[in-house]
Amino acid sequence: MSKIKTIGILTSGGDAPGMNAAIRAVTRAGIYNGFKIKGIYRGYEGLIHDEVKEMTTEDVSGIITRGGTILKTARSKEFMTPEGKQKAFETCQKEEIDALIIIGGNGSLTGAREFAREYDFPCIGLPGTIDNDVYGTDATIGYDTTMNTIMECVDRIRDTANSHERIFFVEVMGRDAGFLAQNCAIACGAEAAIVPEEVTDFDQLAAFMGRGIRKSKKSCIVIVSESPKCGAMFYADRVKKEFPEYDVRVSILGHLQRGGSPSARDRILASWMGVAAVEAVLQGQRNVMIGIRNNDSVLVPFSECIRTDKRFDKRLLTVLDELSI
Ligand code: F6P
Repeated sequence: MSKIKTIGILTSGGDAPGMNAAIRAVTRAGIYNGFKIKGIYRGYEGLIHDEVKEMTTEDVSGIITRGGTILKTARSKEFMTPEGKQKAFETCQKEEIDALIIIGGNGSLTGAREFAREYDFPCIGLPGTIDNDVYGTDATIGYDTTMNTIMECVDRIRDTANSHERIFFVEVMGRDAGFLAQNCAIACGAEAAIVPEEVTDFDQLAAFMGRGIRKSKKSCIVIVSESPKCGAMFYADRVKKEFPEYDVRVSILGHLQRGGSPSARDRILASWMGVAAVEAVLQGQRNVMIGIRNNDSVLVPFSECIRTDKRFDKRLLTVLDELSI
């Protein structure tokens, strides 16, 4: 039997649609299994500064439909320092928190691994990020909703692109990963995707565009992964310079990609992962992330999911290429 009585839950890093569904699942499954659940506000910041509140089943009522996170979130610099972690540990002692469930992306899981290692503290991670760049799980909480949001936006942009016979460079989020750009490009019938995992030279880009512009509908959409140096603006400027005859526009979707009510898929994923996290605590598991792989829930050691890059399937770029002729 596990000696854990109280589980603390927090969301950390960028918010993602479905985080609330995960908070609800952990709270309800935790209470169902006899645990006390304590919500920690503003991620690791709240753990450092003791912003903690006991959660009831009513507190999570109606939140499955809501984007963002009711617990708020932050990217805590202080938690990266030894003093920050020490204060966080003191809060756990004061609040009698015996285990933590952390919902977030790679940075948040790295924080959890270090805290777990330094204080021998049981931590369970749930992958929550729109970027889908966490190893060990087929999808992360928020990724599906964001793909749908981007798809809706690009479908609208296509109307304008067609009507004005324009070339659009649409920039999407993803941090260092091209999952959103690649898969949304396929879903939107875009002419090309520019992703960090693949070098795109200018000749290639010119070929993509020629293809789009040759089409009867005479528009071209290129989905570009965000990048500090060569995002959508960079490519659009190049094209404007080299092909002044084209009417080029840029659309940077920005933070609208992170908000909104979660899709059915994200609600189910988050609910399943939340229940699996509580089961993991019951089984005495520690320092693992819950993943869903091949329709099965799995436990992935923190060390493995942090150290390994998630495989980016370049075959899907071929799918895009063949279908955009
Ligand atoms: O990790 C999620 C994410 O939305 C990335 O796609 C993006 O690069 C980053 O967060 C933006 O962070 P912020 O909201 O802090 O500007």
